[in-house]
Amino acid sequence: MNLIMLGPPGAGKGTQAKRIEEKFGSVQLSTGDMLRAEVASGSELGKMVEGLINSGGLVSDDLIVKMISGRIAQDDCKNGFILDGFPRTIPQADALGEMLAENNCAIDHCIVIEADDDDLVDRITKRFTCADCGAGYNDKFQRPKVENVCDKCGSSNFSRRKDDNEETVRTRLEAYHEQTKPIIAYYAEKGFEKRAQRGNHR
Ligand code: C5P
Ligand code: MG
Repeated sequence: MNLIMLGPPGAGKGTQAKRIEEKFGSVQLSTGDMLRAEVASGSELGKMVEGLINSGGLVSDDLIVKMISGRIAQDDCKNGFILDGFPRTIPQADALGEMLAENNCAIDHCIVIEADDDDLVDRITKRFTCADCGAGYNDKFQRPKVENVCDKCGSSNFSRRKDDNEETVRTRLEAYHEQTKPIIAYYAEKGFEKRAQRGNHR
């Protein structure tokens, strides 16, 4: 099963993608996580996108499409994948349609998560994760059961994203409303037409 998670930053796309991955085996492909890994590794791509991510802007369609198309072609995606954070723009949705056709697969469903902007700012500025296992927490809604100890793996190594401050979150929300939200209508109107054309996809 191939899915797209759509929704504003902080809506819970990654959280739900992880649950779906555990239950159905489709692999989570988080473009945000991939970009952060590039930044952490100090790669050329990482150096190029670091400032942009920290200010809440969007990386160019070309770079993102190149990064995700290589990933979708890998073997572990053959049993299904969950796109988390991509497509972010209409040109990226167009490019996705093309790359899926090339890989002879298609999207089965698009899941949209909606939330109020002020609630999202509140959620994002208070969220943190276990740096060792990735478990998600929140200062207000979901603190670890034992202070400073991860419920899942026992680590005391927690981290917060640099771009999870109010100013950057407002910029990210603006980018969402202007560039990403129109994708909902795009799929509502267009459907996943490659699937209808071919019928028998993996
Ligand atoms: O998806 P996530 O919120 O983790 O993305 C974090 C940041 O990575 C975004 O705010 C944006 O700067 C960058 N990004 C992007 N294009 C994508 C995915 C993420 O520019 N398709
Ligand atoms: Mg995410």
